[in-house]
Amino acid sequence: PFSLYAEMRAKAPVLHVPPLDLWMIFDYEGVKRALHDHDTWSSIVTTQTGPTPDWLVFSDPPRHTLLRNIIQRAFTPRSIANLEPRIRELSRELVDGVIERGEMDLVKDYAEPLPTMVIAEMIGIPVADRPRFVRWSEIILNLSYTMSGGEAATRAVAEHAALKEEMHAYVDDLCTARKKAPKGDLLTRLVEAEVDGERLTGEEILGFFQLLLVAGTETTTNLLGNTILSFFEHPDELARLEADPARLLPTTIEEVLRYRTPVSMVFRAAKRDVMIHGQTIPAGKFVLLLMGSANRDPKQFQDPDTFDVGRDPNPHIAFGHGIHFCLGASLSRLEAKVAIPDLLSRLRGLAPASDAPWQPRKALHVHGPARLPVRFEPGK
Ligand code: HEM
Repeated sequence: PFSLYAEMRAKAPVLHVPPLDLWMIFDYEGVKRALHDHDTWSSIVTTQTGPTPDWLVFSDPPRHTLLRNIIQRAFTPRSIANLEPRIRELSRELVDGVIERGEMDLVKDYAEPLPTMVIAEMIGIPVADRPRFVRWSEIILNLSYTMSGGEAATRAVAEHAALKEEMHAYVDDLCTARKKAPKGDLLTRLVEAEVDGERLTGEEILGFFQLLLVAGTETTTNLLGNTILSFFEHPDELARLEADPARLLPTTIEEVLRYRTPVSMVFRAAKRDVMIHGQTIPAGKFVLLLMGSANRDPKQFQDPDTFDVGRDPNPHIAFGHGIHFCLGASLSRLEAKVAIPDLLSRLRGLAPASDAPWQPRKALHVHGPARLPVRFEPGK
């Protein structure tokens, strides 16, 4: 999409798309300003059929503040740092599982299971149920199609409706168990939380559950996949990183987030008529903010289409900006910090499997490989 983004930034940084009566903003300044101004740009963009404003990410203040407070403390850099040994262990187990084979699908065999297991343990879901929630998370993600309409939207909505009961029952059972025997996990936090003196409803807890599931998995999966993909495309930059990992690993992770932004866009709704770059977006209209494009804006980044593992400063907005700034930013950075050296040091000669090219994900608003077949020297 990057050449299209470049064209749009140059020609129409604010674009009206008549068939959907939708607006799109492509430039860094415009996107960041809209993310910052939550009084003008509402996050309540849900349709009748999709997720509801019970989801933190689709709520506005004052409710947003209350909901965010409930789980915020589990995501501070310090709480997250405590997870490092466990993430390391999970990563080691995944690599152990494939290392003798000499080949794997980097996405299905590593980049997807790692974050899924981490967030599952944080939420308090038994690891054995993982295959179920990988499927759930895909179905929830497909709800992005509801915005574009058509057959894909109808299918996504039907699938989600069918799934909701199953998920509801599953989460209810876990909540009942936590009420009897609290644990140190996110579910316990949700069960015990009070907002304005009232407990969360089952619907609200389910909203959190679905959000954490999708936000905690798809995004970091894409970050890890995008990292390896970028190394394959830019072997010189990989060599630079390997020569000085202590200094360059943190900047490498930020550069992947900028260069191949995993969440390429978010929705907002205009609460009033807004003038932006000389165009008026009328109140009530939906707007797509394209962070994937903003992060390649030459007005903000020198040589934006160059993948530079030493880029610093790097004020990308891959995690959003303002009050909805990604709660999982420290977590996903930590997962990448553990995963990347683990993969590079243990999988000698890591290279794309020559016969099977990578495939992009299909969902509209995420960017990353759906499959990334790789080979390496078999080892122990
Ligand atoms: C919000 C991106 C990983 C949980 C966001 C937003 C972005 C984002 C762009 C802002 C949405 C908006 O403004 O409408 C990413 C990326 C990730 C990542 C690129 C990985 C590379 C995670 C992880 C979690 C997580 C691992 C952990 C559970 C959340 C939550 C919100 C959020 C709960 C909503 C915050 C709010 O509305 O106040 N994320 N995310 N994210 N993210 Fe992430």
